[in-house]
Amino acid sequence: MKFVVKVSGKLLTPNEELLPRAVWELLAEGAQVVVVHGGGPQLSEVLQKMGKVPQFVDGLRVTPKEEMDVIEMVLSGLLNKMLVSAFLRLGIPACGISGRDAFFLRGERYVVEKNGQAIDLGRVGDVVQVDPRILHALWAHGFVPVVSPVCGDSEWQALNVNADWVAAHIARSLQAEYLVFFSDVPGVLRDPEDRDSLIATLTLVEMERLVAEGRIHGGMVPKLQALLRILRGRVREVFISEGSEVVHLPELCRGGRLSGTRIVLEGSEDGDVA
Ligand SMILES: Nc1ncnc2c1ncn2[C@@H]1O[C@H](COP(=O)(O)OP(=O)(O)OP(=O)(O)O)[C@@H](O)[C@H]1O
Ligand SMILES: [Mg+2]
Repeated sequence: MKFVVKVSGKLLTPNEELLPRAVWELLAEGAQVVVVHGGGPQLSEVLQKMGKVPQFVDGLRVTPKEEMDVIEMVLSGLLNKMLVSAFLRLGIPACGISGRDAFFLRGERYVVEKNGQAIDLGRVGDVVQVDPRILHALWAHGFVPVVSPVCGDSEWQALNVNADWVAAHIARSLQAEYLVFFSDVPGVLRDPEDRDSLIATLTLVEMERLVAEGRIHGGMVPKLQALLRILRGRVREVFISEGSEVVHLPELCRGGRLSGTRIVLEGSEDGDVA
């Protein structure tokens, strides 16, 4: 059973223990696990210290060419190694990689169109090709891949790809059974201001309606795009959950569910792939 676990930058702390422990339990159940991390707040903090003003279009971080180096240093250096250390400290053999390693994730620049006009987001990309050999090589030796979302372009130069998209492309390529997004919200909220307005089950059609109604903002936009545009129901179980739910991750192996938003296909009661 394959699990892709995406963890928000907001949940990454130097003393993280819950995620490595949960992954340890998944491994004990015989699962194959890939961890993907974001880095939203840390990137904004570093860029702000440098006098830059973070800008977003449809939840995507505008990435001027001259900021890409710093973004890569923070994601693939600081944050990736911080998370890897958290695993190693507990004796779990994690190995940090980015999309730029071992031909793993090749992307292209991604252009947003608004009112018929193309908006230049700089080095923002999306994945066009996944080469999963590095994952299988690491798994074969018992290592847990921990993925920074920096990808390579046709020349293997760095592209900044939203981490939710990276997780979705990996899950699709692996035909993973489970894709779980851990964020700082309980799941998809009907009203983003009201944490009690959780939508427990969401179909792709309802998701499209929520986006059209303008109930989805900021970083939730690319997260749902990952499900609508990239996955389109190709993964058996998808959850968007709060970080505290990490402790329940191993229960998925035993047929359990996570609190949060469970994504299902329209007309498919158990959410299985059509
Ligand atoms: N309808 C909604 N329901 C839930 N969250 C929403 C909604 N609309 C907007 N959001 C925002 O989306 C945010 C989650 O996306 P964000 O990109 O900030 O975090 P992430 O993707 O989990 O982490 P990272 O970007 O570090 O990988 C929430 O913190 C919330 O403010
Ligand atoms: Mg995000």
